[in-house]
Amino acid sequence: MKFNRRHFLISLSSGLGLVFYSCKNLQQTKTTDIRNINSQIIENSTVSSSEVPTPLGPAPKGMFAPKRGDIRLVIISDLNSSYGSTSYQIQVEKTIPLIPEWQPDLLLCAGDMIAGQKLSLTEENIQAMWNGFDRYLAIPLRQLKQPFGITIGNHDASGYLKKSGDGYIYEKERRQAEIYWRKHQNDLNINFLEADGFPFYYSFIHKEIFYLIWDASTFDIPTKQLKWAEKSLASSQAQNAKMRIVMGHLPLYAVGVGRNKFGDVLNKAEELQTLLEKYNVYLYISGHHHAYFPGYKGNLKLLHAGALGSGPRVLLNSNLPPGNTLTVLDIDLEQDKSFYTTYDMKTMTVFNPKELPEKITGFNGWVLREPEAVLLS
Ligand SMILES: [Fe+2]
Repeated sequence: MKFNRRHFLISLSSGLGLVFYSCKNLQQTKTTDIRNINSQIIENSTVSSSEVPTPLGPAPKGMFAPKRGDIRLVIISDLNSSYGSTSYQIQVEKTIPLIPEWQPDLLLCAGDMIAGQKLSLTEENIQAMWNGFDRYLAIPLRQLKQPFGITIGNHDASGYLKKSGDGYIYEKERRQAEIYWRKHQNDLNINFLEADGFPFYYSFIHKEIFYLIWDASTFDIPTKQLKWAEKSLASSQAQNAKMRIVMGHLPLYAVGVGRNKFGDVLNKAEELQTLLEKYNVYLYISGHHHAYFPGYKGNLKLLHAGALGSGPRVLLNSNLPPGNTLTVLDIDLEQDKSFYTTYDMKTMTVFNPKELPEKITGFNGWVLREPEAVLLS
């Protein structure tokens, strides 16, 4: 079996269930603290076959099973295929049934669930895409009553305005996204606090964590919405929660090759960062760049979720090959810490965070690699 340098832990021989480890000392895992285990994994790069260690937490059979936090999130993003597509690539379809096996408290999707942002798509085409999303992804999750939070991406329902200022360019897509999600709002199994703007912007509380979702389907979050976000983050419900997490499709800073430009990150990123830091937001989750990077800047953690669907991209300042990722985020509420485990769902391997760049510098600023991810992912 050929091991990619970028991956370091498990390669699952799908269908046969044969598992090999890329480190030497995993026999010790039954009695070893998670930090030591992960240190061993990171320090040992020699490939050798072994058994799967005793799982530390729930995970799909044969895959690395990190220790569960007080709260566990599973985060996916950018699921779509080519424009107008009503189906998904194989790694998307095979990932969905695995999600419950990590036993997440909450599943989050950082946008681009369908493949729109094309004016020639008819209302019927767009409905067919949402029907495809429903069939392949939403129905299985709803049958399991999996709590699920989503944010709208540019390919779901871009918020770009017409030059005249009179409405949205992708009016049909905005309308169909609203119709689909309004119909399934209660299927998300989350406790909404403010949902007037759903599915574009809303807030909810889930297991002591406050979540705010904003419409970052374009580089410009409308002023009115930012005022709402500030008021919402300042509310007693947000401030009394044990933690605050914000999610939007576009990131604050660029991390992906080909997306390192105006229009592919949020405008006035530093001002937005200051806003989030002011209200003690723990983490901002984004997608769109199709490149996994667990980052931070100042007091704000920035999780750049990779693409589970088509078109994974190379990270800036790196020559690592791209991957189709899913991230498990285990949160320790008492210590205010969180630990990432990110899998490439095509190869079923775990990312070695030490191989990610320590710093990514894009056109509008830099982001540092999250040290906690290095310790425990
Ligand atoms: Fe996108």
